[in-house]
Amino acid sequence: MTTASHLSVEEHAPSVQRFAPGKVNLTLAILGKRPDGYHELESWARQIDLRDRLTMRLSSEPGLQVSGLIEGVPDNEENLVWRAAQRVADAAGRPLDVEFHLEKYLPSGAGLGGGSSDAAATLLGLNELWGLGWPLEKLYEIAGLLGSDVPMFVSGHSAILRGRGERVEILKDSSKFYLVLIIPSFPLSTARVYARCEVSASLSGGRARPWEDGVKESRVLGPLLFNDLEPAAFTCEPMLAQLHAACDGIDGRSVRLTGSGSSLFALFDQLEEANAWARAVRSKIPSDVRLQIVSTL
Ligand code: C5P
Repeated sequence: MTTASHLSVEEHAPSVQRFAPGKVNLTLAILGKRPDGYHELESWARQIDLRDRLTMRLSSEPGLQVSGLIEGVPDNEENLVWRAAQRVADAAGRPLDVEFHLEKYLPSGAGLGGGSSDAAATLLGLNELWGLGWPLEKLYEIAGLLGSDVPMFVSGHSAILRGRGERVEILKDSSKFYLVLIIPSFPLSTARVYARCEVSASLSGGRARPWEDGVKESRVLGPLLFNDLEPAAFTCEPMLAQLHAACDGIDGRSVRLTGSGSSLFALFDQLEEANAWARAVRSKIPSDVRLQIVSTL
C-alpha cells in the first residue's frame, strides 16, 4: 500500500512533462506497394495545436495512468507509451522505474497521429529524465520500429514524409492555417485502410507538391490538397463517404481525409472564417460528429 510519506517522496521525484501534438496530412501520395507489405508514400504533414500531455516521474511504482477527454484509451502494454518506454529501457539496459500520466485530447484511430506522438514524447522524455544523452539519430531509429509516423513527431516539426513515412525531411514552414477538424465517432484502422488501397499506375509518380510553390492562401491551397487513401477509407466505412459528401464544397472549401482517417479537415487563413464554416457545416452532419477548430504549429 502507498503510504502518505511514500507519496510525498514520490511527488518530489524528478519528472519531465512533454506535449504530444497531433498532425494532419495536407497531401498524401501513395507511390506503390513494397515487397515488405508497406506502401511507399510522400506526404506533407503539418503539426497542430491539439495535443496530449505526458508526465513522466521516477517512481518505485511504475505504471501508466490515463485521463483526459478521450475514452477507451488502454492503460496497459497495448499503449504505445508503454511500448516505447520498454524499448528505451531495454536499449539503455535499465529498469523501467517511471510512472506515466497521459492526458488524452487527441482521438484514437482518427488519422491525427495521437498514439505516434505519445510514443515520440516518451522517447524524448525518457532521454531527458534518465539523462541518456542519446542523439536524435538513435531516437529516430527506435521511433521507426514503433510506427511509421513516430519519427516525424521526434523531429518536432512539420515535414515531408517519405518511405513508409519514417523518412523525415523537416520543413520549417511558418505559414499559419486554421483547420476545422471533422471527427466522426468511429475510428478507422490504419492497417485495414491500407489493405483496401488499390495501387494503380495513375497513383504513382508526377504528383502535385504544393509545399514547393509557397502558396499561402487557403482558398488557393485547398483544391491542391489530396489524399490517395480516401477511396480505401470510404470503402471501409461508407458513413465516412457520406460525411465527406455532406461537407465537401460548402462555401467552396475542399474537405480532405487526414492520414488513413477517420478525421476530415478543411483549411482556412482566419479563425473567424473557420468558425463561420463550422457553423454552416454543423446543421448538415450527424450530431455525434465532433467539429474542432485547431491551428498549425
Ligand atoms: O507503421 P504503422 O504501424 O503505423 O502501420 C500500421 C499498418 O499500416 C502497417 O502494418 C501496414 O499494414 C500499414 N501501412 C502501410 N504503408 C505505410 C504505413 C502503414 O501499408 N506506409
